[in-house]
Amino acid sequence: MNILITGGAGFIGSHIVRRLVTHYPAYQIINLDLLTYAGNLENLKDVDQSPNYTFVKGDIGDESLLDEIFTKHNITHVVHLAAESHVDRSIKDPLVFIKTNVLGTANLLQVAKKHWQENYEGKLFYQVSTDEVYGSLNMGFDLFTEKTAYDPRSPYSASKASADHFVRAFYHTYHMPVVISNCSNNYGPNHFPEKLIPLFIHNIIQKKSLPVYGKGENIRDWLYVEDHARAIDCILHKGQPGETYNIGGHNEWTNIDLIKLLCDIMDRKLGRSAGESRELITYVTDRAGHDLRYAIDATKMEVELDWLPVETFETGIEKTIDWYLNNKEWLDHVTSGSYQEYYSKMYH
Ligand code: NAD
Ligand code: TYD
Repeated sequence: MNILITGGAGFIGSHIVRRLVTHYPAYQIINLDLLTYAGNLENLKDVDQSPNYTFVKGDIGDESLLDEIFTKHNITHVVHLAAESHVDRSIKDPLVFIKTNVLGTANLLQVAKKHWQENYEGKLFYQVSTDEVYGSLNMGFDLFTEKTAYDPRSPYSASKASADHFVRAFYHTYHMPVVISNCSNNYGPNHFPEKLIPLFIHNIIQKKSLPVYGKGENIRDWLYVEDHARAIDCILHKGQPGETYNIGGHNEWTNIDLIKLLCDIMDRKLGRSAGESRELITYVTDRAGHDLRYAIDATKMEVELDWLPVETFETGIEKTIDWYLNNKEWLDHVTSGSYQEYYSKMYH
């Protein structure tokens, strides 16, 4: 396989790049990333000298660059992760979400079609998507399945839903082999500290306040990022064209329960007195249109592809906290902005 991974310098992308580069030395892995604020090549410094890895800085919206990459590397597979990914940013500035997530995906599909349409044999366009396209669940036992109708409610989820629709349209209209996976909230190493878990780990270390939106009653279904990377590997190799796969860890937590757990583990690890970090919790104005609950039914992944998450939330969160405590440099570079110098040091 000659795999174009988009967004490979981001949180989830970096785990996919590492996994594919190290597990499949015979594959060529080309990582195309624009290095927006969310892209960080320090995430990949352990693999960036591998002979089967190439990094290209660029935009998924740049048709001629994509043409060049497809031709030069004879791309057979696309694993598409590049996106604007933060809901709060999408509320403030929806247009960049439309540009990257919708138009960027459409551009990538067009270029893949142009290069592959003579012979789709051995080709695959894999769209990495989110459970947020399904909308919001009420409290209770309902779960999102692959048959749940799309009902996106934030500009972020609307842009991802739109992109998913284009991917399916290319399957039905042009017979392009595609797969889509819709995953629940990820957490783990390399997570940019604007999202709940890394932001709160950072703030607890710094003894800064922990801004809980609304009453903290919203529920998210958390999956350790390496379990997601394994699921993507599994779908890339065994997924059926035209199919959708829901990925999740059956790990539903209200935000406030999760935050209290985080505070308690961090107090223990930092040698602080019990309850100290809980004092940092501050209830703030709720997010506009805040989805109440997400929860995934991942039965299809288990039954058809033999995938199950390895980490429970308790084991995954311990690993995650340990990683942030042992990689303070990574956090310092991200919070100071110096992580963005890594590209010029490495590639110029
Ligand atoms: P992220 O924000 O950490 O990384 C996104 C990456 O895309 C960055 O490296 C950024 O530089 C790159 N990028 C942005 N615009 C680009 C462009 N125009 N051209 C090329 N590269 C560009 O995101 P993430 O959390 O790793 O999410 C990756 C994908 O997985 C996204 O498509 C997201 O919708 C999906 N997803 C995320 C989660 C989650 O919990 N984080 C859950 C399910 C699905
Ligand atoms: P987030 O990590 O932004 O992921 P998503 O919105 O894609 O689920 O947020 C996770 C949950 O945490 C969500 O319900 C919003 C909430 N939240 C806070 O309460 N405070 C914060 O500072 C952030 C970033 C999120």
